[in-house]
Amino acid sequence: MPKETILVVDDERLVRWSLQQKLEQWGYHVSLAEDGATALGRAQLDNPDLITLDVKLPDMTGIEVLSELRKRNVHVPVIVITAFGVVDDAVQSLKLGAYDFIEKPINFEKLENALRNALETRRLRTEVARTHEIQRSEWSVDHFIGVSDHVREVIELIRKLAASEASTILIQGESGTGKDLVAHAIHCESSRREGPFYAINCAAIPESLMESELFGHEKGAFTDARSQKRGMFEMADGGTLLLDEISEMNLGMQAKLLRVLEGQSFRRVGGVKNLSVDVRVIAASNRNLEEAVRSSRFRQDLYFRLAIIPISLLPLRDHKEDIPPLLDHFIRYYNRRFHKNIQHLTKEAEDLLMNYDWPGNIRELRNAIERVMILAEGNRVAAKYLPIRISEGGSLPVPLGEGSENGGIRLPGGGISLYEVERELIRQALEQSRGNKTLAAKLLRITRDTLRYKVKKYRLE
Ligand SMILES: Nc1ncnc2c1ncn2[C@@H]1O[C@H](COP(=O)(O)OP(=O)(O)OP(=O)(O)O)[C@@H](O)[C@H]1O
Ligand SMILES: [Mg+2]
Repeated sequence: MPKETILVVDDERLVRWSLQQKLEQWGYHVSLAEDGATALGRAQLDNPDLITLDVKLPDMTGIEVLSELRKRNVHVPVIVITAFGVVDDAVQSLKLGAYDFIEKPINFEKLENALRNALETRRLRTEVARTHEIQRSEWSVDHFIGVSDHVREVIELIRKLAASEASTILIQGESGTGKDLVAHAIHCESSRREGPFYAINCAAIPESLMESELFGHEKGAFTDARSQKRGMFEMADGGTLLLDEISEMNLGMQAKLLRVLEGQSFRRVGGVKNLSVDVRVIAASNRNLEEAVRSSRFRQDLYFRLAIIPISLLPLRDHKEDIPPLLDHFIRYYNRRFHKNIQHLTKEAEDLLMNYDWPGNIRELRNAIERVMILAEGNRVAAKYLPIRISEGGSLPVPLGEGSENGGIRLPGGGISLYEVERELIRQALEQSRGNKTLAAKLLRITRDTLRYKVKKYRLE
C-alpha cells in the first residue's frame, strides 16, 4: 500500500518537528504548513489523506481554515488540535465536519488512534463509492450474456431471487464461470441495490482474523485490537454480503456462520452486546461443496442452510453456443475501452475459439479477446494473435504429454536445476491463469493444496 500523506498545520516549529518525527515513525508521509494560507495551498497541492490542524494560527484561525477547505470542496478528514479546555473551538470544528479533535499537549497514543480511525473511515468511503460505481456500469443483469437454455435459466433465476426474500443463496461453478457477476447482478436487481455490497474472500483471509473480519471486534479484544472495528456483517447492513470461496472457511467459523444465518444476530469479538443486521448472504464456491461435505471438510448443516437456493453455473465447454454472443459482447466492450473499431474475427480465429475447451471459462475467453484486441490492427482479428494454447487447438505450450515417450522434455547435456524448472513452470502457470490458483493447479495437474504449498516454498506469492 502506498504511504498515506498527512498535512501538519501548526505555527510552532517545535510542534511541527515533533509531530513529523512521530508520524514518520508510524509510517506516514508528512507535509508541513506554518500558517493558514500555506495550509490551504498545501491541501490542494499535496493531496493529503488527512490534515492535523492547530486552531491558533498567525493569519487566521483553524476554524476559518476548516470552513475555507469545505468551500473549496476539499473533503479530507481533519483532526483539529485545540488548546486544553477550549470547548468552544472543539464544538465549532466538529460542526464544520472535523473528524475529531485533540487537546494540547498532544497525547500521542490518542492521536495515533484518531488517525487510524479517520483513515480507515476514509478508505471505506472510497471503497463503497467505488463499489457503487462498478455496480452501475458493469454488473447489471443486462451484462449477463448468452443464448443457451442454461444462461436463460440463470438470468431468470437471478431476477426471481433478487425479488425474493431469500436471505441466503449459494452459487457454485468452476473458476471464471461468472459467480461474481451473478452475485452482483442479484444485488443490483434487488430492492437492496441502494444498500452496500461487500465481498470477502475466505481463502485470502488468515484464519485468525476471519472472525473479526466478519463480525468486528471491540477495542482490546486481542493484542492488535487497538480500536473498535465493525465487521463485514455490520457494514453490509441493508445490503448484500458475498462470501467468496466459502469452502476455504475453517470448520469453527462455519459453525459460527451457521448460527448467525439462523438467528441473524452476533457479537463483535470481545463484545457483550448482541447485534442484529439485515443482510443477504451470497456464498460462492468453485469447489464442489457436496464433495467437501462428504470428506468432512464442510459442515453438512451449513451446506443445507446455504443450498436452499443453489445456482450452478456450467463450465463454458458445456454451453459453447454462448461463445459467439460473448465474443460480440467483449469485442464491443474492448472497442469502447481501447478506442478501436474491430468488427469481427476471421473465420479461422472463430473456429479455434469454438474448438478450444476453455478450462478458465468465460474469464479466459474475455482475457483472450482483450489480448487479441490490443494486438490487432484494422477491423478484423486474425488467428495469429490468439494465445498459443488456443491457436494450437487446446494443447499446452510445453508438451508435457503423458503419451510421449519422454514427456516431451529432454534433459540438457549440462544438466539443469530441477528446482528452477519446477519454480519456472509454476510461475508460468500462475501467469497464464492470472494468479488464479485453482486454474493454475489444473494446468499443472496437481491439487490446489499442493500448489499452495509449492507457491509458499518457492516464494511465488
Ligand atoms: N454470462 C456472462 N456474460 C458476460 N460476461 C461474463 C459472463 N459470465 C462471466 N463473465 C465475465 O467473466 C469474468 C469472470 O467472471 P467472474 O469473476 O464472475 O467468475 P467467478 O466464477 O467469480 O470466478 P472465480 O471462481 O475465479 O472467482 C468476468 O469478467 C465476468 O464479467
Ligand atoms: Mg469470483
